This record gives sequence, structure tokens and C-alpha cells, in this order.
Amino acid sequence: MIHREREQKFVREMIVMAYTKPVTTTEMFKKAYNGGYAIGAFNVNNMEIVQGITEAAKELEAPLILQVSKGARAYANHTYLVKLVEAAIIETGLPITLHLDHGDSFELCKSCIDGGFTSVMIDKSGLPFDENIKITKQVVEYAHDHGVVVEAELGTLSGIEDEVNVSAEAASYTRPEEVEEFVQRTGCDSLAIAIGTSHGAYKFTAAQCTRNEKGELVPPPLRFDVLEEVSKRLPGFPIVLHGSSSVPQQFVKMVNENGGKMPDAVGIPEEQLRKAAKLAVCKINIDSDLRLAMTGTIRKYFAEHPDHFDPRQYLTPARAAIKELVKHKITDVLGCDHKAF
Ligand code: G3H
Ligand code: 13P
Ligand code: ZN
Repeated sequence: MIHREREQKFVREMIVMAYTKPVTTTEMFKKAYNGGYAIGAFNVNNMEIVQGITEAAKELEAPLILQVSKGARAYANHTYLVKLVEAAIIETGLPITLHLDHGDSFELCKSCIDGGFTSVMIDKSGLPFDENIKITKQVVEYAHDHGVVVEAELGTLSGIEDEVNVSAEAASYTRPEEVEEFVQRTGCDSLAIAIGTSHGAYKFTAAQCTRNEKGELVPPPLRFDVLEEVSKRLPGFPIVLHGSSSVPQQFVKMVNENGGKMPDAVGIPEEQLRKAAKLAVCKINIDSDLRLAMTGTIRKYFAEHPDHFDPRQYLTPARAAIKELVKHKITDVLGCDHKAF
């Protein structure tokens, strides 16, 4: 190895060693905004999911957001999840943010801020404008006093939002004319907007889609006009997209061919997410795709090995499937490979 390369490797290793604790999204978003890419925000619920995601990011030197929902916290326990994420940071040396996904109250946000999270989302998008502002501002004041950043939301996504089921009819796109006042009055650090994504594996009904020549469902395009108008009004401000799973059809097929039943599952086409990442979108939330990769792989494993009963046997390929999926997202969708340092 020539001298210069060795020196660069040494400097990189020194920097890698610097990350031993979760970071906020401030620097990450600045670099992502200016660099025309987005950071993946992946939901974590157990050790194998954390490992699959972070091993992928380590190989590709990608910054990461690991996010925990209220449901994940109830499932796995706050301390376990914090310690798993801290372990992943020590193992990878990457800049990783520990984020609360869809915080629904000041108390929940406070508990995560007090308990080691570096970023929280307060999601009061279902409330009237002024009430959303009031609670968001309260969270921002507490968070900023503790060195934590806050994501807020304007507009509602259809589908399941954590424990809140928002019907497709109730979903409304973000109104660009509201964003400046909202950001100015709340002091939030990033803003989730509704431009046609939604949560879960069934983002659109067959009636909302057209069909391509292969007979596959093609969803309506995202509202890039809304995104562009929002970013024109908030120059340099990081925008977040929830509900951004693409529902890879190979995993839907794997589920369906191995005893599952997920007819007409459909997601957001990856090229549209890539386009959003090049614009003001700095954070892209992905959960359902991880679930599909894990479930499809485990179903296939059980079908092929009906006599196996050691969880390590079927969780090993499941973790590997998550890793491969996340590597693909980082490189081909988010564009954040080799952006960690
Ligand atoms: O947006 C919701 C996330 O996919 C988290 O889902 O509430 O089932 O953990 P969850
Ligand atoms: P998906 O259901 O599309 O993965 O969205 C996840 C999400 O937005 C988490 O907040
Ligand atoms: Zn979400």
C-alpha cells in the first residue's frame, strides 16, 4: 500500500474510533442536503435486525438512523434497544442516530430524551395546525435543552401510523403554504411531509393503481410538486419521508410461495425515492421492507427445513437477508454509501 493510502486509512480508522455514542442528525442532514442523498432510517425491534442493518452500513461506510417506535419499545423494552444500538455503534464506529419514531406525546418524547435518544419525532399531524404547533414546540424546547433534535410532521399519510390508523380518505397532502410558519413557530429540526407515501405493505388499493405489461400494480406517482414547493419555502431545511418501503416483489412472492398470504402488496417505486433523495429529502423511513425480507426468508427456511428448531438456524439467513436489502437501499436508493466520514 502506498504511503498516502496508508495515511488515509489511518485517518479513517482514527475517525471511526471517535463514534462510541449516538449522534444527532444535524451534521448528517447538512451533508446529505448538500450532497444530494438521504440517510436511511430503519426501524429496529431486536438484535438480528440491528445487526443486519448495521453490518450493511459498516461495509458501505454509510451514516445511519436507527429508529424505535412506541410499539418497538413496548415489545423489546427501552433499555434493551438502547443497549443494542450502543453495541452496534461500538462494533461499527459509524455515526448512528438513535431516534424515536412517531412519538405521540410529550411524556414519551421526554422519556426517550432522558433515556439516551439523540433524536425524537413528535407526531401531532392529526391535530389542528395550532395544537400541532403547541405540542411540537413544547417537545422542541425540552429536546434542545438536552442536546436532542426534533422531527415534526405536517400533513397525514394514509395507512397505519404506529397505533393510529389513518384511512385513505382522511389522508391529506402537506399544504406548502403552512410550512414556513410551522417551522418558525415550533423550532423543529426536520419536517416529515405527506406527498403520497403511506405506511405498511399495502400502500395503494388495486383501484388506485394501473397495471404494467407484466400485470403488476403500478402506483400513482409521488407529488413532487408539493415537495418542490415545500423546499422552495424552506431552503436548506431537511425534509423527511415516512412510509417509504418499496415492498420488493421477490419477498412478497417468497412469502406467498411458502404458506403466506399477501395478495396485492405494493410499495413506492425505488426510482421515485432516489429522485426525492437528490432533492430536499434527507431522511427516508423504511420498516415494512425489513419485515418482508425477514418473514419471507424465515418462511422459506421452515419450508425447506421442517425438522429444524434452533432459532439461530433460521435467524442467520433472516439477518443476512436484511443486510443484503439494506446494502441495496444504501447504494441504489439512498445514495449514502461512503458518506459516513
Ligand atoms: O411507522 C410505523 C413503523 O413501521 C413502526 O411500526 O408501530 O408496528 O412498530 P410499529
Ligand atoms: P414503511 O411501512 O413504508 O416501511 O414506513 C416506515 C415508516 O415510515 C416508519 O416511521
Ligand atoms: Zn412513519
